[in-house]
Amino acid sequence: MERTLVLLKPDAVQRRLIGTLVERFELKGLQIVGMKLVHASKELAEKHYDAHRARPFFPSLIQFLTGGPTVALALQGPNAVAVVRNLMGLTDGAKSPPGTIRGDYSISVQNNLVHGSDSVDNANQELALWFKADELISYQGCDHNWVIG
Ligand code: RTP
Ligand code: MG
Repeated sequence: MERTLVLLKPDAVQRRLIGTLVERFELKGLQIVGMKLVHASKELAEKHYDAHRARPFFPSLIQFLTGGPTVALALQGPNAVAVVRNLMGLTDGAKSPPGTIRGDYSISVQNNLVHGSDSVDNANQELALWFKADELISYQGCDHNWVIG
C-alpha cells in the first residue's frame, strides 16, 4: 500500500489546527502509520526542500519551516500521494478552491499549512528523512474492508 509524507507546517501548529487537519486525512480513509512533533533544524528543512534551493523564496521558506514545531505524518492508503495532494489543493491558499485544506484555511502562498510529497519516489525519500524505520508502524485497521473494499 502506498505511503506519503505530510507535514502540518508551523503555521498549522501555531493556529491550533492540528486536530482539524488530522481529521481531514482520517475522514478521507487514510491510515496514520507515523506521527510526531518535530522542531525542524535548518539542515532538515534545507534537505526537505532541496529542490527549491535556487528559488528566490528559499531563505524565507527555510525560516518559516524552522520557525516553530511541525507535525510529521506518514499516511498510508491506495494512491496516498495523489489523494493527499488533491485534499491539500493548490500551493497558493488564496487561489485554492474551497473544499481543499488550503482553500478552506489559508490565504497565503508560503504559509499554506500542509506539505504533501509530490511523487511516490519523493514520498519514500521524505519519509526516510523525517522518520526512523521503527517509527513507521504497520497495523490492520479494523475498518479496512469497509473503507477500502
Ligand atoms: P509543498 O511542497 O509544501 O507540499 O507545497 P507545493 O508542492 O504545493 O509547492 P512547492 O512549489 O513545492 O513549494 C514549496 C513551498 O514553498 C513555499 N512557497 N513560497 N513565496 C513563494 O512564491 C512561494 N512559493 C512556494 C510554500 O510554503 C510551498 O508550499
Ligand atoms: Mg512541493
